[in-house]
Amino acid sequence: MTRQPREGPADRLFREVFTAAPDGILVVGLDGTIRFANPRSAEMFGYAHPDLVGSPLDRLIPGRNRDRHRGYMAEYARHPVARPMNAGLELQAVRADGSEFPVEISLSPARLDDGPAVVAMVRDVTEAARLRAFGAGTLKAAENERRRIAQELHDDTAQRLAAVKLALKRMQQLDPHEVAGFCDELRSEIGAVALGVSRIARGLMPPELERIGVVESVRIWLSNRVGEDGPAVSLQADPVDAFLDRDQRLVLYRIVQEAVSNVVRHAAASSLQVKVKDGGGVVETIIQDDGVGFDPGFRFERLGGLGLMGMRERATMVGALLSVGSRPGHGTRVRVVMKKLENKRKGEKDGVHS
Ligand SMILES: Nc1ncnc2c1ncn2[C@@H]1O[C@H](COP(=O)(O)OP(=O)(O)OP(=O)(O)O)[C@@H](O)[C@H]1O
Ligand SMILES: [Mg+2]
Repeated sequence: MTRQPREGPADRLFREVFTAAPDGILVVGLDGTIRFANPRSAEMFGYAHPDLVGSPLDRLIPGRNRDRHRGYMAEYARHPVARPMNAGLELQAVRADGSEFPVEISLSPARLDDGPAVVAMVRDVTEAARLRAFGAGTLKAAENERRRIAQELHDDTAQRLAAVKLALKRMQQLDPHEVAGFCDELRSEIGAVALGVSRIARGLMPPELERIGVVESVRIWLSNRVGEDGPAVSLQADPVDAFLDRDQRLVLYRIVQEAVSNVVRHAAASSLQVKVKDGGGVVETIIQDDGVGFDPGFRFERLGGLGLMGMRERATMVGALLSVGSRPGHGTRVRVVMKKLENKRKGEKDGVHS
């Protein structure tokens, strides 16, 4: 009878690190068979632990990349040094259910009783990839906004000012009695410039928001944006303006604008409900339709538009919670929860003292 060698402290430590590691650890023989796998790797790839050990590594690699991957393994066997595998590439792995996810992999050489092997540390970077894509989307949104403003300034303001400048030059050459008529023309041109500039500014901070508050602005937006052939609209709104600061009011208004536009453009809904509720320490806003719905997943950027991403970005800016619930055929519900000003201040103060 062979006796199991006793486990020393170093072995125990190694086993504990292997078992508790937050990253997947796979030890793979050079023939491409998984020889050891820690519990995290089984969980990450969606296998029962015993099914993973002894199975070919190919199972975890998307079919299209397997040949290339075997080439890497052969290359690694020739130059076995510790190194990251990604080298600037986005690597994909495949779960038991066939879904793919992005990973980062570091390789290091190892030796098993029966020959050389490779230790692969695998990290699921789904969240990091999502944040990267979101960051890129945010940048794109900001860039679009800048382009829109630049376009307006170029096409309208700059053109008109150039015309005014030319008119002033011509005016210098006129007889004094002709000047009066010219002044009228100039006044109306400058008036148009001012109007254009205020239109651009309105796109940034709608003046009605300051003047009449967010609830009334939402009411007006709804009646302007939803036409006769649109869904039946109901608005229930508590007077919440005093509970929100300027940024929160702007964010709330922009989110309602986008959510309502989405309903009008995409939902083919028969009813649209907007509720702005004074909910104790928070202001809760819900925009709900009974239209065609969609599959929001967790990756708004995959849907192609900028609206939902912008909503999420704006909500994050003021520390609000945004959720978008939708299912094909079951309508869409956008919910925003904002901390009231007094609670926000209190929270900040508490934060300072704690
Ligand atoms: N209320 C809704 N009902 C049905 N589908 C919706 C609704 N809201 C969003 N969607 C779907 O989600 C997609 C993404 O919406 P998002 O607002 O991000 O982009 P968009 O409206 O297509 O374009 P943009 O807002 O950039 O002009 C839409 O194209 C649409 O398919
Ligand atoms: Mg949209």
